[in-house]
Amino acid sequence: MVEINQRYALEKRIKELYDAHTERAKLIDWNYYDYLPWEKGRSFKENPWEESQRTLPIEIVTAIETSMLTEINLPWYTAYIKDMFKGGLEPMQKFLNNWTAEEDQHASALENYLILTRNSNPKELGALKKEMILTGWDGTFANPIATMGYTAIQELATVVFYQSIAKSSMEYDETLSVLLTRLSKDESLHYAFYNQVIQAYLELDPNQVTFLAPVVINFKMPGQVLKDFDDRMKIIEKAGYGPTQYLDRVLEVLVKRWKIDSIQPSTEEGRKAKEDILKYMQKLRKLKAFAQRRNKNC
Ligand SMILES: [Fe+2]
Ligand SMILES: [Fe+2]
Repeated sequence: MVEINQRYALEKRIKELYDAHTERAKLIDWNYYDYLPWEKGRSFKENPWEESQRTLPIEIVTAIETSMLTEINLPWYTAYIKDMFKGGLEPMQKFLNNWTAEEDQHASALENYLILTRNSNPKELGALKKEMILTGWDGTFANPIATMGYTAIQELATVVFYQSIAKSSMEYDETLSVLLTRLSKDESLHYAFYNQVIQAYLELDPNQVTFLAPVVINFKMPGQVLKDFDDRMKIIEKAGYGPTQYLDRVLEVLVKRWKIDSIQPSTEEGRKAKEDILKYMQKLRKLKAFAQRRNKNC
């Protein structure tokens, strides 16, 4: 546990990070209405939806739909995190309200894009949306640092996801590429905040790594509650985001930022957690090398 004096230092640091986040977010404040191709909207009564109206390849449609469905579950993420921080560090609670307001635009932007451009069947999309919210989401994290470890990984994975899909959608629709780049900027600020909070925790007490190891090793995106999530991810890989990007641009970055290699936990659990993360990274690197060799030989 973080001691009282450490808690005071932590609260002070989180307050500084929250203030910095608010300032940065103000500078890039936006409204999703400005990023949508409203001129493409047509009545579905007069012009019913047909599959042939799609303008994007299926891997990009799947990527946008999966992101939208993940973002739409925001009420459950907020409920869980709010409960986790109840009665705890005050700036964290303020950040959470800000974060919720910033995240709220994402699903609306993606949903409207899919419907306006007729890249999704609006009836199917509505049904999927309802099913997703009915399924909900629940975390099982041990404490606030584990929860923030999860959100840091998830936010950075989302940054890389949006950047990758923005790149591959450029040749089909610049409007979509610009919108995704815009979303990635919000996610980037979220990632920066959560990541710096973790760094502050670890600097004050390296034994906190004990709570990060299970999160790193068992990480699954919040969209995993979709029953066809794995099939979707296989399709999305063709659009430029898959296990390689997750390892190289998410986990490797975080393990470096959290200085897992050099931190010196004093407890046995802490030392074991550090070793567990390092071993897990080795395993993923070997799997990546194996997959690359296999693809070369195909
Ligand atoms: Fe988001
Ligand atoms: Fe985010």
